[in-house]
Amino acid sequence: MKIFLDTANIDELKKGVAYGIIDGATTNPSLIAKENKGFIPLVKEILDVVPGPVSVEVTATSAEEMIAEAKKYAELSENVVIKVPINLEGLKVVKTLSESNIKTNVTLIFSSSQALLAAKAGATYVSPFVGRIDDISGSGMELIEEIAQVFDNYSIETEIIVASVRHPQHFVQSALIGADIATIPFSTLTKLLKHPLTDIGMEKFLKDWEKVKK
Ligand code: G3P
Repeated sequence: MKIFLDTANIDELKKGVAYGIIDGATTNPSLIAKENKGFIPLVKEILDVVPGPVSVEVTATSAEEMIAEAKKYAELSENVVIKVPINLEGLKVVKTLSESNIKTNVTLIFSSSQALLAAKAGATYVSPFVGRIDDISGSGMELIEEIAQVFDNYSIETEIIVASVRHPQHFVQSALIGADIATIPFSTLTKLLKHPLTDIGMEKFLKDWEKVKK
């Protein structure tokens, strides 16, 4: 499973890339707004740091305006993936961009019907938001299972990015289902590595090593 960092924070991206486990990054208008930087300069910084696909979201609402925005962002780098909301205008955008070989990530996916339509329009990726489904007492991971099954039924090549990941179990279940990608906040990335027995084991090894005559 590929791991993307779900952040627009340059320090977090630099750390993640240095660990050698980050395959790409995803942003959204809320993550960008948190950084208090100019939008295009920040996107350029992210592209310089991340050695893989970087999702950048359009914010216009008509297909024509979204396409114009997308074409501007796509010129920044071949790693730019245009994040498009799932709605009728969004589908038109995905179709047009896929015909121009511009990669798309269809976002705000909350049902397998939305995922299937996005894939049919030519989406490179779909982003189902598991945490936000759990927040309203649904099961985000059941949606991932459903989409994976539907895509498998028809040999659809659109990749599933599990988004709105809130904790390590979302990550583990994504891998068990066989999702293509999990995009995770930096705080979750560090939790994935933690295990109390690792810490206890490390402490004991270091204590015993002190007793060794050198
Ligand atoms: O980037 C989209 C998604 O990952 C947002 O997550 O935590 O705001 O629901 P969250």
